[in-house]
Amino acid sequence: MTSAAKTGRFITLEGGEGTGKSTLQRALSEALRARGLEVVATREPGGAPGADAIRALLVQGEANRWSALEEALLFAAARLNHLNRTIRPALVRGAWVVCDRYYDSTRAYQVAAGGLRGDVLDQLNALIEAPAPDLTLILDLDPNAGLSRSRGAEAGEDRFEKKDGAFHTRVRDEFLAIAKREPARCAIIDSAQPREAVLAAAIREIEARL
Ligand code: TMP
Repeated sequence: MTSAAKTGRFITLEGGEGTGKSTLQRALSEALRARGLEVVATREPGGAPGADAIRALLVQGEANRWSALEEALLFAAARLNHLNRTIRPALVRGAWVVCDRYYDSTRAYQVAAGGLRGDVLDQLNALIEAPAPDLTLILDLDPNAGLSRSRGAEAGEDRFEKKDGAFHTRVRDEFLAIAKREPARCAIIDSAQPREAVLAAAIREIEARL
């Protein structure tokens, strides 16, 4: 997507299980709408009918149902569907897209924790022409605390939550490493704070950077 074709803003929310991304997404979307902006709140995997169908394959069932490469291919297919049907049209018409998870989750879960080669993800991102977010807010929390407040099991969507503690520690460490590698795009927010403080931190980052 050329920058001329894009007038909206693309914000992604990232972090491990139970870090409060969906709570922040709701509050942030409301705060941006109160400023008169059109906001599209969406999530991955999902955000479009085809991608939602793929989501069920990815988040349900046994933890070892797919290899990391198989997962990355499914996430890439879902992401392309989501980009084509939801994200790109929203950005072109000037909306602000607030997306719960995006390609940094693939880097953390499939590459760092799952053992997929990083250049394979680079190639997939290039193939689907995945645009870089304008801002990525990374919610950081001890994985033990996050897993205990995560609600995935209630919805039968706990395939990744069932992976072991070392897996979730690698996920957290990689999100922190991504933020270090790309400080202009990423900001870390301490998600152990009360939710009002998390929202205030998110708004500060948006005002400072966008
Ligand atoms: P959610 O629980 O935040 O809705 O996300 C669904 C699960 O999918 C979550 O456990 C993280 C995982 N996931 C990946 O492993 N790779 C990805 O690229 C994405 C978007 C999500």
